[in-house]
Amino acid sequence: MSATVADAKSSRLTNLTATTIGQKATMAVTGIVLTGFVVIHMLGNLQVYLGPTKLNAYGELLQSSALVLWGARITLLLTVGAHAILGLRLSRMSGAARPTPYKMKTAVNSTLASRTMLYSGLLIFFFIVYHLLHLTVGTVHPSFAHKDVYHNVIAGFRVVPASIAYLIAMLGLGLHLNHGVWSLFSSLGVSHPRYSNALRRVASLVATLLVLGNVSIPLAVLTGLIGK
Ligand code: HEM
Repeated sequence: MSATVADAKSSRLTNLTATTIGQKATMAVTGIVLTGFVVIHMLGNLQVYLGPTKLNAYGELLQSSALVLWGARITLLLTVGAHAILGLRLSRMSGAARPTPYKMKTAVNSTLASRTMLYSGLLIFFFIVYHLLHLTVGTVHPSFAHKDVYHNVIAGFRVVPASIAYLIAMLGLGLHLNHGVWSLFSSLGVSHPRYSNALRRVASLVATLLVLGNVSIPLAVLTGLIGK
């Protein structure tokens, strides 16, 4: 093999690796922003337990500055877009790296969450579209009332299929975050074999708390704990 052909091959390999590392770093940064949003959003939503006055005051506060609201919406949209496009691309690249599938797939070092990242990611994407139509725009809500977030949440979750859709989506979110948060640690270089088990537990704890906090709301409405 001539030196030029070998050089070209090695530079292609370096570019590919650099691009993959860049993409993984972008996935990690966008993942942090989105996880941060989901945590803050859940803490805000848990105010439903404090009654209509508190939750509606919180809703009004979020809507009080159009500049901040639209700034946050555009940032979120771009972040979700970048995260989803790069996620799809990385998953296609890992498929292309081994065009012939393994004859026998063994789950060495992989978990259900890691093997289903693409599907849980797609589920979250479709959930967000449904969720916006349900609780922000109100087109798929039985009695949407602008500025009455408390009523929208309670009346929205009294519809059993809607609550079931949220419960399923939250399980997908939990799976996605369980692997996603763990994988962020390694993308950011904080994972070390010595701390690996502890970091896995941190990731599972974050995912579990988020799922429990979120699913508690439709369950509390359906069981009549809130909104009687
Ligand atoms: C049971 C769980 C959840 C409840 C009760 C809930 C509740 C709400 C409500 C009431 C709004 C409208 C706020 C307003 O108009 O002032 C909203 C907006 C939104 N939610 Fe959720 N949410 C939940 C879970 C999630 C999750 C898991 C995500 C992301 C994966 C999410 C993403 C969003 C987004 C992006 C908006 C639009 C914010 C905006 O532009 O105004 N939500 N949510």
